[in-house]
Amino acid sequence: MASIDVQDRSIYTRTLGIERDPLELPRRHLDDRGREVAPDLIALMGDTPMVALNRLSADVPPTMIAKLEMLNPGGSVKDRIGIAMIEAAEAAGQLKPGGTIVEPTSGNTGVGLAIVAARRGYRCVFVVPDKVSNDKISLLRAYGAEVVVCPTAVAPEDPRSYYSVSDRLAAQPNAFKPDQYFNPANPQSHVFSTGPELWRQTDGQIDALVLGVGTGGTTTGVGRYLKERKPDVTIVGADPEGSLYSGDEARPYLVEGIGEDFWPDTFDPSMVDVWERVSDAESFAMARRCAREEGILVGGSCGTALVAAHRYAATQPADATIVVLLPDSGRGYLSKFYDDTWMAEHGFVEHASGAGSVADVLDFKGEYLPPVVHLHPDESVAAAITLLKEFGVSQMPVFRDGVHDHATSDDVIGSVRENALLDAALRDADVMSKPIVEVLQPPLPTVDVGAPIDEVLGSLAAGAPAVMATDDGHSVGVLTRADVLTFLAGQD
Ligand SMILES: Cc1ncc(COP(=O)(O)O)c(C=O)c1O
Repeated sequence: MASIDVQDRSIYTRTLGIERDPLELPRRHLDDRGREVAPDLIALMGDTPMVALNRLSADVPPTMIAKLEMLNPGGSVKDRIGIAMIEAAEAAGQLKPGGTIVEPTSGNTGVGLAIVAARRGYRCVFVVPDKVSNDKISLLRAYGAEVVVCPTAVAPEDPRSYYSVSDRLAAQPNAFKPDQYFNPANPQSHVFSTGPELWRQTDGQIDALVLGVGTGGTTTGVGRYLKERKPDVTIVGADPEGSLYSGDEARPYLVEGIGEDFWPDTFDPSMVDVWERVSDAESFAMARRCAREEGILVGGSCGTALVAAHRYAATQPADATIVVLLPDSGRGYLSKFYDDTWMAEHGFVEHASGAGSVADVLDFKGEYLPPVVHLHPDESVAAAITLLKEFGVSQMPVFRDGVHDHATSDDVIGSVRENALLDAALRDADVMSKPIVEVLQPPLPTVDVGAPIDEVLGSLAAGAPAVMATDDGHSVGVLTRADVLTFLAGQD
């Protein structure tokens, strides 16, 4: 990161306070008739409130306080860098009236940029990979931005790739690419806003700041400011398991917005004194707890920061003050970790740990030890469909001829699955009279009746339509996704 000087005052951030004493009280916006009315939404970026986290800190000695960055007008901490990068580019002549802002982002930075673009008359084009959810694309389009969706299944050098398309668009005349991972205005915006706000709001009584690291802009900027004011302040980096930052080998994880598999220019790692590594499961469980117990609906990376803050706080004395920065709201994640089905499908079952075994689900279904409904290889496809319909299931195991009960894995030769039957019917008009051995699918994965439910969820999340439960190697039942979810819902 050596190239970036975050104290460089020539980088222009009028809105965030380069022209005012950053320690003055929150801006009071008065219109020309003395009324408290801001001139536009941009003027309301920053100056976010802080709140005590009494419930989440009840079992640790220190005071825990949150800085509520989701209360920025665009819903996240990224409002600060949106306006800062645009004002710096305007001042440097890189962005002229009527210009186009091009950024490869699908997240909060896009919203921050789009708000400023809408107000100041810039065109905004965001380049996103095709795995991005429709909700996120719709959100950016709602602000009037254009969104170009690029295929992920092509090499970076392919002209259709995310990288090629954004480079090409940014090379157009009058286009400007803010590039949040390289732009010094990103960390610097926090030197001029977030850092001084934290200092003023806590009256300097801050012993540690806990925050997730994405581009590193917040950490670098706030870290520089606070350490200048109070050299022994501790910066705790909250990092997802699977991120390179805290020394993990990079691998996928589900928390969004923080952790990386490379070192961005905007991150000065020397700012971080302590790393706390946090799993997806811990982050999501904590975010959900924060909504239920504190009434603060937070995003997944807030969960990560809260887990790290709580863990760190447990080692600190009662007179310590630990501040945790909460970057965005949970509104953007309602169909993800706030959704019980999504949690269960991804193996994050808060109440299931200890909630039981495969046998419990079979019991709940009222099906423990009945003969397993099955087929034999010579039965016709038409007969298989009748049986699937009769039992209201979409898959069934196929046992060796002559085996009717207590089948072992040697007796199971495969399975019949509704979607494969449909495929076969489309390809072959005569399939109904054919033996099912011609449309045989692999056996269902097996799981022992004593295994925890999480194990079944793992197989189901990996794409299996159902699993075969076995007792001492003998099949005793089939569990579908619906069976497991119904059981879990009934446990609440
Ligand atoms: C949800 C969320 N949390 C945390 C961060 C981290 O902030 P920064 O990029 O300043 O390190 C980001 C930014 O990427 C984010 O979107």
